Amino acid sequence: MRVLVLGSGAREHAIVHALRRSNGVSEVFAAPGNPGIAQAADLLPVVADDLPGVAEAASDLRIDLTIVGPELPLVLGIGEEFERRGLRLFGPSRDAAEIEASKVFAKEFCQRHGIPTGDAVVVRNRDEAAAAAHKIGLPAVFKADGLAAGKGVLIVRTKDDLEEALDAFFVQRRFGDAGDKVLVEECLVGNEVSYMVISDGSEVVPIATSHDYKRAGDGDEGPNTGGMGAHSPALVIPPGTSRLILDTIVRPTIEGMAAEGREYRGVLYVGLMMTTAGPQVLEFNCRFGDPETQAILLRLDDNLAEIARDAADGALDTRTLEWRKEAVACVVLASKGYPAGPRKGDEITGVDEALALPGVTVYHAGTRSEGGRLLTAGGRVLSVCGRGATLLEALEVAYGGVHKIQFDGMWYRSDIGRDTLRTLGSSDGRP
Ligand code: AMP
Ligand code: GLY
Repeated sequence: MRVLVLGSGAREHAIVHALRRSNGVSEVFAAPGNPGIAQAADLLPVVADDLPGVAEAASDLRIDLTIVGPELPLVLGIGEEFERRGLRLFGPSRDAAEIEASKVFAKEFCQRHGIPTGDAVVVRNRDEAAAAAHKIGLPAVFKADGLAAGKGVLIVRTKDDLEEALDAFFVQRRFGDAGDKVLVEECLVGNEVSYMVISDGSEVVPIATSHDYKRAGDGDEGPNTGGMGAHSPALVIPPGTSRLILDTIVRPTIEGMAAEGREYRGVLYVGLMMTTAGPQVLEFNCRFGDPETQAILLRLDDNLAEIARDAADGALDTRTLEWRKEAVACVVLASKGYPAGPRKGDEITGVDEALALPGVTVYHAGTRSEGGRLLTAGGRVLSVCGRGATLLEALEVAYGGVHKIQFDGMWYRSDIGRDTLRTLGSSDGRP
């Protein structure tokens, strides 16, 4: 099978890496990729959201399967573009990707289908937002309707936060058109879990659980980011919860989308809060999570290419995926100024030293190579992953790798997994 991966982040590097371990995959291409991906795939000089460009490349290169990493090509309709040309794509259609593209659609969809989620009001201006915050009560969560790279969410705890949020959304218009409609949502309390499945439109195959660290600072302080680290499995999910999530959230979502003429094929990512009233939906994404995927796919002991092909063909059987009984931790190294305004062009050293450590994998994201040197080229620069028999061991391995790598302005969270270990008490987190 000749496979093309779209995107240029650490998630896509992890996907390419998993494809390289899949029997039956003869060639892997990536568009546009990055210097890390270039070591495992042939790079094509096409950006992922150039839909005709990508489709032409897939056709010219006789690609059997294209896997889409980021949401933008999906939201722009790459599914429809490939379908029109008779090309096989793993990822939902534009209509199905609406579940990520519009938080208002996702919320109203949950309400229509009785899928558990926090109460929310849709508002369009400052006065409506202030009234909604009064009705919902503080703390409340303000969410821009459209895509905002994980940054369009503000948690409003105090009256000062409320003034700031009203100002950010409706005066500064910090989220542009994505903030034309805003959800004012009840603030849910509990452990946050990322739950992903692969679906072919009707069948569902669960992917291993994971926990994502979205806030910039240790102790979950600071602004939201695209994700600063992750570990898999999530470990804090009590036994039986996976079934509960499948029965009350995932299956009703896949069935509801089909019933609304938005058949869902691809990865469905559900961000959940494990509340005392059970799991509730925070958000849906229409693709693999980043950085969760970096942690998850290292545990996959199965054939990613086959499962993606079968899902794309609507021919997923009900088999389950095989996972290694080990933990993986992922720590994201970010550049100075991320998430607000990341600096670029700093030289990165030590990646090979990190890779030489047993159990360490380094996935590239915002990097570029120039004259034999590796430079930073974005906010999230590298994902450093460690494998271990327990979460504690995986974290030690991952941070061992982190300590080998350097660039000016490099920063990272030093507490990935710590909350999970605290919740587990005396256990080291053995999957
Ligand atoms: P979202 O993009 O909707 O997942 O929001 C980003 C982050 O904000 C989530 O990962 C949560 O940590 C937090 N968040 C979103 N919605 C809520 C909510 N209703 N209650 C509490 N936290 C939330
Ligand atoms: N890590 C969250 C996301 O991929 O949206």
